[in-house]
Amino acid sequence: MKKLIVANWKQLPDTMGEAEEILDFLSENIAGVSADIVICPPDKYIEKVAELLQRPPLSGMAELGLQDISLTEIENLKLKIGNSATYVIVGHSSRRKFEPEEIINQKLKASLTAGLTPVVCIGENTRDGDYQQFLKDQFDATFAGLSPEEIGKCLVAYEPVWAISTNPGAKPDSPDETRKALAVLQPLAPASRLLYGGSVTKNNAKDFLSMPEISGVLIGGASVRKEEFVEILKQV
Ligand code: PGA
Repeated sequence: MKKLIVANWKQLPDTMGEAEEILDFLSENIAGVSADIVICPPDKYIEKVAELLQRPPLSGMAELGLQDISLTEIENLKLKIGNSATYVIVGHSSRRKFEPEEIINQKLKASLTAGLTPVVCIGENTRDGDYQQFLKDQFDATFAGLSPEEIGKCLVAYEPVWAISTNPGAKPDSPDETRKALAVLQPLAPASRLLYGGSVTKNNAKDFLSMPEISGVLIGGASVRKEEFVEILKQV
């Protein structure tokens, strides 16, 4: 199975023109890339990005993902983009700041009902104390009520919050430490593919992508730096 590269654009780039430039650059440089790509643009560009991803050579290689699912807007969104989205990020730390576990759990269930593949973010805020217990508790609350089959349909992204580039002092996790965290999550989701996220750049992507237990990476900042993003894709 190919490695999965999830691009979480967050609120960037500033204009749809720049978004189009990123996708054009990707189209021009995608030959020879052997990875499955998911582009999660901000909502304001979703219709246009959905359309651009239908065009070759991106169609078939890059899919559309949502950065979040709104429990009330999902039907409206379907009217706008039909079934063009295939993935959805659930439980990103930017949402967990505002949303209790029950809402994240409901969003996860709604995503599965909508036929989307959830990329579920699990990660500790700081790596002190018993962070491994924290991961277990967060996993259990997020996946509460889901059957093993349903959990297996989800991708689990280990994304330590302190490693996310927008947080002060962020730095990527070390592959060795990531391995320890994955060893906590893997038995809880034995059929799920596991990803790593948090300050992935062209300088460290290979370290994570070469780990057999990792099926891919979730990339924020570096996914809107078009040259760097392509460089990462070429390393896969
Ligand atoms: P980062 O973001 O790669 O910029 O650290 C990852 C994320 O927020 O999903």
